[in-house]
Amino acid sequence: MKQIFEETHIGGLTLKNRLWRSATWMNMADAKGHLTDRLEQVYLDLARGGVGTIITGYAFVLEGEQPNPGMLGIYDDSFIPEYRTFTEKIKAEGANIIMQIIYGGSATDFKPEGREIWGPSAVPHPLFKIVPSEMTKGNIGTVVEAIAQGAKRAKAGGFDGVQIHSAHTYLFSQFLSPYYNRRQDEYGGSIENRSRIICETLEAVRKEVGPDYPVFIKMHCCDDWEENGLSVEESLFVAKELEKRGISGIEFSGGNLDVHNYPNAGPIRGGILKPSSQSYFAEKTAQIARHLNVPVISVGGHRTPEKLEHILNTTPIGYFSMARTLHSEPNLVNRWRQGDQGKPRCVACNKCWDKDGNICILDRASR
Ligand SMILES: Cc1cc2nc3c(=O)[nH]c(=O)nc-3n(C[C@H](O)[C@H](O)[C@H](O)COP(=O)(O)O)c2cc1C
Repeated sequence: MKQIFEETHIGGLTLKNRLWRSATWMNMADAKGHLTDRLEQVYLDLARGGVGTIITGYAFVLEGEQPNPGMLGIYDDSFIPEYRTFTEKIKAEGANIIMQIIYGGSATDFKPEGREIWGPSAVPHPLFKIVPSEMTKGNIGTVVEAIAQGAKRAKAGGFDGVQIHSAHTYLFSQFLSPYYNRRQDEYGGSIENRSRIICETLEAVRKEVGPDYPVFIKMHCCDDWEENGLSVEESLFVAKELEKRGISGIEFSGGNLDVHNYPNAGPIRGGILKPSSQSYFAEKTAQIARHLNVPVISVGGHRTPEKLEHILNTTPIGYFSMARTLHSEPNLVNRWRQGDQGKPRCVACNKCWDKDGNICILDRASR
C-alpha cells in the first residue's frame, strides 16, 4: 500500500510526503513583483503546516507582462538575492519550494490598455474578451528565452525547481487549444505544431539549468471543450514529447473558460463537496499517466485523505496538489497527519480573491 505521507524522490529532490501546494497567486507582491513580509508569511505558514512541496503563485518573466497585480516577478537578476534568503527560510521549515513561471497573454483584466498582449492568434478570450496580437516568430523567441532566463534565475535564487505554467488559458495553453491557435505556420495546426513552443521552451530551459535540475510543467489533461480544446489523446502526445526532452514531472489540471457555454468546466470548480465530485481531473489524468514514466501530480478538487490514498493505490498518479483547501487552512496537512481527517475548512465557495490580497473569505473580517 502506498501512502500519502511517505517520503519519495524525484531525481535528486526528496519529498517528505506526496502532497503539494498547487500554485496560488496571492496578490501580495509589490508593484514590481518583489516579495513583501505579508507574502513571505503565507509561505512560512504553508511550510510549517506540513505540505511537502510548495509551488509559488505564478511569477512573470518579462517586466510589465503580468496578467494580475501583486504577482511575484523573476524578470531580472535583482530578484536573486531576496529569493535566496526567502528559499532558505522555507527550506529550513522542511518544505520544498518550486517557482512557477509564466508569460500570461490574453487571460487578463489587469491594465490591458496600452500594453501589447501576445497570443498564438488574434482571437478573443471567451472570458476576458481581450484580442491579443498574433505573435511573430521573433515574439515566440522572446518568450522562450524569457522563460529560460526566468528558470536560470529561479535556480540561482535557491528554488528547488521550476514549473512552466502551460494551463488555464494562459499563453502556452492557448497554443495547445485549436480555438486560440489558428496559426498556419509550424506553431499551429497539428498537435505536434501546437506543442512546438512548449517543447522549444523546455529545451531552452534545460540548456540554462542543466539536465538534473527539477523542471515541471502544469498543463491540461484536456480542455473539456470539444473540438475547440485540447483532447486527452493530444495531451498524452504533448506529455510524451516533454518526457523525451527531460521534464521532471507533470501536474495535470484542465478545463476551459468559455463560461457562457460551459459553466463550471474551468480549472477551479465550485460544488465539489461530495466525494463523487472531488478530484475532478483525476480520471482523465490517470488515463494519461498510464502511458508515462515521469511522476504525475493531479490537481483539482482534492479534499480527503481517504480519496487520495484510493487514487494513489489504484492509478499511476503519485502526487496530489491543492490550492483552495490550503489557502483556507495552511495547517491542513499536519492536521491530517496527526489523525484529524475531518473535512477541510474550505467549502469551495470560490471567494478566494480580494483586491487587498487573496486571503480566504473566512479570514477577511479579522484582517
Ligand atoms: C486564489 C487562487 C489563485 C490561483 N493562482 C494560480 C497560479 O498562480 N497558478 C496556477 O497554475 N494556478 C493557480 N490557481 C489554480 C490552482 O492552482 C488549482 O489548479 C485550482 O484551484 C484547483 O485546485 P483546488 O481544487 O485544490 O483549488 C489559483 C487558484 C486560486 C483559488
